[in-house]
Amino acid sequence: MRSDFGTTAKGDHAALYTMKNENGMEIAVSDYGAILVKVLVPGRDGILRDVVLGYDDVSGYECGTLYFGATVGRVANRIKGGAFELNGNTYTLTKNDNQNTLHGGTDYYDKRMWKVEEADDSHVSLALHSADGDQGFPGEVDIRVTYTLTDNNEVKIRYHAVPVEDTLLNLTNHSYFNLSGHNSGTVLDQEVMICADAFTRADEESIPTGELLLVEGTPMDFRSGKPIGREIHADYEAIKFGLGYDHNWALNGSGYRQAASMYSGQSGIEMKVYTDLPGMQFYTGNFIEQEKGKEGAVYRKRQGVCFESQYFPDAVHKEQFEGPVVRAQEAYDTTTVYQFQLK
Ligand code: BGC
Repeated sequence: MRSDFGTTAKGDHAALYTMKNENGMEIAVSDYGAILVKVLVPGRDGILRDVVLGYDDVSGYECGTLYFGATVGRVANRIKGGAFELNGNTYTLTKNDNQNTLHGGTDYYDKRMWKVEEADDSHVSLALHSADGDQGFPGEVDIRVTYTLTDNNEVKIRYHAVPVEDTLLNLTNHSYFNLSGHNSGTVLDQEVMICADAFTRADEESIPTGELLLVEGTPMDFRSGKPIGREIHADYEAIKFGLGYDHNWALNGSGYRQAASMYSGQSGIEMKVYTDLPGMQFYTGNFIEQEKGKEGAVYRKRQGVCFESQYFPDAVHKEQFEGPVVRAQEAYDTTTVYQFQLK
């Protein structure tokens, strides 16, 4: 179902595409920013809860700076020094996070109108043409993001692109989840499990040093699952630098596999995260401050958490990290799934 989502400052009419499944789940995606706006999941009491943070209409997303539900590209996370070399040429990006580039630089993909190519009750495909030189990156590329809601309660996000020239691609979704409901306070008592024996050590500016550190015996160990808040104030370098959790975990295994899970004892809702990518940024909303959101909600620090599947941050400067170079005419094709059930 297509509905009106408001008009942008430039005068573009934004639309919201709503999908429903046979279990009563519902999601909504906007053609502004290819943003995941709503994820409604029935709790154990049968009541539908919206489990992602967001805004009521397009103007909220235009003004917002926290990437609620956003499709992030061309390269999610950080590139040190806002520059990189590819095939002997140096490319310069905008610096929007200290001296580094975060989430593509200031001309964000989630602040543009995307073109809807297909839409029905279970999926929507959105396309973005990114020109040669867009955000400073080389090579023209047509990007397609498809959101599908399955009857297995999966929100499946597939990213597909074939660049004309060699370039970098690392697309992700920046939804903030709160499984008790977007307007229910912090997520600190909700449980998270991350399928990773190691994470990428980073400096004060969240730039990886290139080392992998084992999570064993540290507050970064989520392998058996624990409440998010249990060690979030620990006296540990990574936690101090990140002001909480804001790190890339090196996921165990390869190929499409489970990356993480999250659970709210209050609603009974469990979410499992699956991806075919090597890394995942687990970010605990450390920078949310009094943000006016959907349905009159005011979001605060740690009211939602992100599971951003990705190539490791700053991989372009680290030979030992895979990606994110995609060669001309080669397909970039990756899928991340957020699946919901009652536990
Ligand atoms: C980054 C955080 C940043 C946030 C913005 C995350 O992907 O890792 O450092 O503040 O995005 O909402």
